[in-house]
Amino acid sequence: MVRLLTLLSLLAAGSCGRRYGLDKDGYHRDDVGSRRSLQTPSTPAPELESEYWSRDAQSELGERAWYDGSSGYARNVVMFLGDGMSVATLTAARTLLGQRRGQTGEESRLSFEHFPTVGLSKTYCLDAQVADSACSASAYLCGAKANLGTIGVSGHVARHHCTAATDAAHQLASIASWALDADRDAGIVTTTRVTHASPAGAYAHTADRNWESDGDVTAGCSGHAQLDIAQQLVHARPGKDFKVILGGGRREFLPNTMTDEEGSRGRRYDGRNLISEWLTEKDSRGVTHEYVWNRQQLMEVSEELPEYLLGLFEPSHLQYHMEANHTTEPTLAELTEVAIKSLSRNKEGFFLFVEGGRIDHAHHENLAHLALDETIELSAAVEKARELLSEQDSLIVVTADHAHVMSISGYTQRGGDILGPSDALGDDGIPYMTLSYGNGPGYREPRGGQRVDPTRQDYRGSEYVYPAAVPLDSETHGGDDVAVFAWGPHHALFSGLYEQSHIPHRMAYAACIGPGKHACQHSPHSTT
Ligand SMILES: *[C@@H]1O[C@H](CO)[C@@H](O)[C@H](O)[C@H]1NC(C)=O
Ligand SMILES: [Zn+2]
Repeated sequence: MVRLLTLLSLLAAGSCGRRYGLDKDGYHRDDVGSRRSLQTPSTPAPELESEYWSRDAQSELGERAWYDGSSGYARNVVMFLGDGMSVATLTAARTLLGQRRGQTGEESRLSFEHFPTVGLSKTYCLDAQVADSACSASAYLCGAKANLGTIGVSGHVARHHCTAATDAAHQLASIASWALDADRDAGIVTTTRVTHASPAGAYAHTADRNWESDGDVTAGCSGHAQLDIAQQLVHARPGKDFKVILGGGRREFLPNTMTDEEGSRGRRYDGRNLISEWLTEKDSRGVTHEYVWNRQQLMEVSEELPEYLLGLFEPSHLQYHMEANHTTEPTLAELTEVAIKSLSRNKEGFFLFVEGGRIDHAHHENLAHLALDETIELSAAVEKARELLSEQDSLIVVTADHAHVMSISGYTQRGGDILGPSDALGDDGIPYMTLSYGNGPGYREPRGGQRVDPTRQDYRGSEYVYPAAVPLDSETHGGDDVAVFAWGPHHALFSGLYEQSHIPHRMAYAACIGPGKHACQHSPHSTT
């Protein structure tokens, strides 16, 4: 979506042409990482091995186990990921939540801010100080740090190096795989395309996050059996065994000669309809299955759930919650509820990944109001999960993949509108907003040597683009640590400050699956 202000500020800044490549969504640079080689002296050689990160996580887990007072094990694990949900985003979102309820706001809490444990995770990637959602997904879902733009592969795979990515020796298993190997069920829920970087961390191995459908896989790579991400989800393990897949992204599954239920054209060049192929594959296994594409169908199917459920509610990402029609579009809490209902039927337990993926997109557009609202929606989804699950046998972990460069400026009185200007003025006598960004499309070119007054526009709507200090088409991620909240068995393992790649190892330990199985001292009722 191109916002008017974005265009105006770019024209004003004289930067009509992009100085760098952005991906097809216009949010992320797709050239970063690719120019660097594996020999870059900045990545210490041992870190290219996934075993390095596994040993690193397991040895610290041994130390942390001392602080762990829980005795049971986590039959179920639900991981919530707020994409780009920085600590400043949490602070501002909770304040907005309280102010919407007529309170001053600062004292309010998001649902997961009541959890007994909070820690901090370090999000840098192998070749980058500031993470993207691909390398970070490898860390928090597969337990090893990776190179920028790559998913589910070790540091031996540089961005765009498809031959290295298709080598099984470089592919990482995710915690969703570990759960399936232990006879538990697995599923993914997201507000982005189900083939987008974060959910893809649960099932894909790829040298580029942008290879979502066949046309995206660069010509030099097609001969190397590099399957596009949608194909991996439908036809490869562990994706084909996921019991629930709910999100957006129909276009990555449909041929470009076909339009979907809402009239949008597919993006595939190979003529394949992967939604039909998903249904056929389930038919061949003799399992019950259903494909749904709107909220009404989702509500109906939730009354009598099939064994396998695929829900694709938009051609691309789901709409921002504040811009969606709630008659036709499901909320993240509704999607989460259906997923948990479905997965809870397995007595062995399950792993579910739930992403509030558009917090990130709104921040990239400097649309702080939308970013905060998407965060509040994630909070509602966590609250729903907490209602449906028991603290005795279910671990809920809530975290972010990376930060953003939104900051909260002083000095406003207690209860001042978090979306509004600061009570103070700049040294130039012009107001400034409490929320602003280090960079992004919200940069305003000075007029007549004067900074533009940001309060001249209506900042109460969701479309208001918050000011940025440096002009950029798309605001950047931030490199600060992100928070990790935990509730349920072994929640105390998540306190402290640790590498993002430790997170799945700690979840697996609590659940006695994958690499956590052998060290598990809290014996589950059954192992396989
Ligand atoms: C939402 O969608 C329903 C069903 O298509 C329609 O009747 C209604 O007018 C829509 N509401 C808005 C606000 O657009
Ligand atoms: Zn992003």
